[in-house]
Amino acid sequence: MTAQLIDGNALSRQLRTEVSERVATLRAQGHTPGLAVVLVGDNPASQVYVRNKVKACHDTGMHSVLEQYPASMTEAELLARVDALNNDPTIHGILVQLPLPAHIDAHKVIEAISPAKDVDGFHVASAGALMVGQPGFWPCTPYGCMKMLESIGYDLRGKHAVVIGRSNIVGKPMAMMLLQQDATVTVCHSRTADLKAQTLQADVIVAAVGKRNVLTADMVKPGAVVLDVGMNRNDAGKLCGDVDFDGVKDVAGYITPVPGGVGPMTITMLMVNTLESAERALA
Ligand code: GUN
Repeated sequence: MTAQLIDGNALSRQLRTEVSERVATLRAQGHTPGLAVVLVGDNPASQVYVRNKVKACHDTGMHSVLEQYPASMTEAELLARVDALNNDPTIHGILVQLPLPAHIDAHKVIEAISPAKDVDGFHVASAGALMVGQPGFWPCTPYGCMKMLESIGYDLRGKHAVVIGRSNIVGKPMAMMLLQQDATVTVCHSRTADLKAQTLQADVIVAAVGKRNVLTADMVKPGAVVLDVGMNRNDAGKLCGDVDFDGVKDVAGYITPVPGGVGPMTITMLMVNTLESAERALA
């Protein structure tokens, strides 16, 4: 192993301690940051995610509300709940867990969330603000990746970053954040003709596809920084990322593990966004 690990658990602990301190300051002034998490249906993975989000609120001293509804909930009922939370002064962040049941238009629901409370950063107003470099909420997973680069003191100016994946939640916002830090950014995806030719040029690679072994050692320039956003299972059922960690760790300069890399950072940045929303509400 030549690469240094970027430990998402350790960095999360550090950032959550800082969040707890700022939450304590707000609470001393009589204001408790609050997050509402809304889950519709009984997707088992979503149930684990929302429980972890509520626990993180509790651990950092924030107020949280978990609203769980049956899959039979109508779109109109969900929109009415979002509207109520938009108008609830104890709530600073609203998160509607995705995926939603097929009969509900997820885009319509996300657009119903007040941009001032869009701590997921999924609203088009949040995406637009990121695009033009205005204040807003950044999606938590790519934001966590930026914090990981910051934690190793990495200067992106003039560096070549390759993002593999073009989702609205990770790939596209990731590219915008890297660009904002003056990197030269290439976005690759399933139709990219020669992925290896692109990644071999990269100083920083972010793999966010959701497929095992998308990035192997022969595709990485020695010393590159590799961030693995993937969450997959291998044949033995073990959690693994998009990167062939065992191979790439001998070529890269820095690498994030799965588990214990980008994963914990996502919830940490949700706490940061919720805290910042509460601070903005008071400003
Ligand atoms: N489903 C999987 N990840 C996320 C996330 O970060 N936010 C929401 N709202 N739903 C998700």
